Amino acid sequence: MKKKIALITGISGQDGAYLAQFLLKKKYKVIGTDRRSARSNFWRLRRLGIENQIIFEEMELGENCEIDRIFKKYKNINEVYNLAAQSFVATSFNSPVNTSNITGIGALRILESIRNFNPKIKFYQASSSEMYGEILEKYQNETTPLNPRSPYAISKVFAHFVTKNYREAYNMFAVSGILFNHESPLRGEEFVTRKITLGLVKLLNNDLDCLELGNINAKRDWGYAKEYVELMWSMLQKKKAEDFVIATGRHHSIKDFIEECLKILNIKAKWIGNGLNKRLIRTDDNKTIIKINSKYFRPSEVNLLHGDASKAKKKLNWKPKINLKKLVKIMIDDEIKYYKNN
Ligand code: NAP
Ligand code: GDD
Repeated sequence: MKKKIALITGISGQDGAYLAQFLLKKKYKVIGTDRRSARSNFWRLRRLGIENQIIFEEMELGENCEIDRIFKKYKNINEVYNLAAQSFVATSFNSPVNTSNITGIGALRILESIRNFNPKIKFYQASSSEMYGEILEKYQNETTPLNPRSPYAISKVFAHFVTKNYREAYNMFAVSGILFNHESPLRGEEFVTRKITLGLVKLLNNDLDCLELGNINAKRDWGYAKEYVELMWSMLQKKKAEDFVIATGRHHSIKDFIEECLKILNIKAKWIGNGLNKRLIRTDDNKTIIKINSKYFRPSEVNLLHGDASKAKKKLNWKPKINLKKLVKIMIDDEIKYYKNN
């Protein structure tokens, strides 16, 4: 049987790596695009041992001609997973125009290219729970109104609706997965969960004095990235093109996440103070190991996200397997295993 061909944008990112691994196991030919030709940022693919099985192409999402070149070159692509984005919410406040151009209009550029070169290609858009922003319903599902709170989230709303529009206007198989936060040992170090797991392991190795964080009261619905990427594929295998929310249905604060890490690392510590003066101190030597720094607060924050993935449970026959405790264990175990080897 002829191999199916998948193109993944953002192959060097967390989800790109896990999705590539999953599709390779399913015997797909995987084309991975990245904005740079240098391979230095492919540590995730190397960690998974799949770097040599991927066909790499350069594609900057801001350049129409680079996108067209790929679809001209590979006429038989079956599925496109658009995972590339300026994906860090904090950066989007400093770089709103670039974020809109890449995270928002980037999706439109790909859809336009697919429409021109081969509208039969199935398209997956990486939509985000950040689109719900200051939430308007207690549990967020596919029909919850969007209320974005950052240039990143606004760009994702644009990409989300442009995907819907290409599905409705041109009858293309174009869908969005509205994924709630998903983490893993392959998470970028700037995101809060990985910043915490890496920071605490550095502290234990005397390579860091004190970890500085922002709003530790924010709450997120955290799932496991390796599990979530499989659902991107499932969405493209359905007869009907439709959007799905993927979430665990449970939420925890950043503080809860820290406390799970402390248990696993057997660090005995207690919180003292309030607000910006809140600190975590070790109970054995009273040393401060976590403090709050206002520079990590966002101009407008998303305080709480809590997904309702009932539709995915029913139609994709899915239920989340990894809860917060297991997720933290997976992340800490890998952090220790690979610390100093990267
Ligand atoms: P990630 O690790 O930050 O990966 C983003 C990828 O986009 C990287 O490969 C990055 O390349 C690439 N990229 C950035 N700017 C680009 C540009 N101008 N042109 C081409 N490529 C560019 O993100 P992730 O966690 O894997 O997430 C994957 C997608 O899902 C993103 O679109 C994200 O917004 C979305 N999403 C993520 C979550 C989550 O919790 N992880 C939840 C909902 C939605 P470099 O390596 O060169 O930077
Ligand atoms: N990054 C970071 N660093 N976040 C911190 C810190 C810190 O030092 N201290 C507190 N936080 C809080 C943020 O203010 C936010 O409320 C929460 O931790 C989570 O921040 P991130 O881990 O940066 O993720 P995010 O929720 O903003 O965005 C991620 O999830 C989205 C899905 O909801 C990203 O992966 C987005 O690309 C994705 O769309």
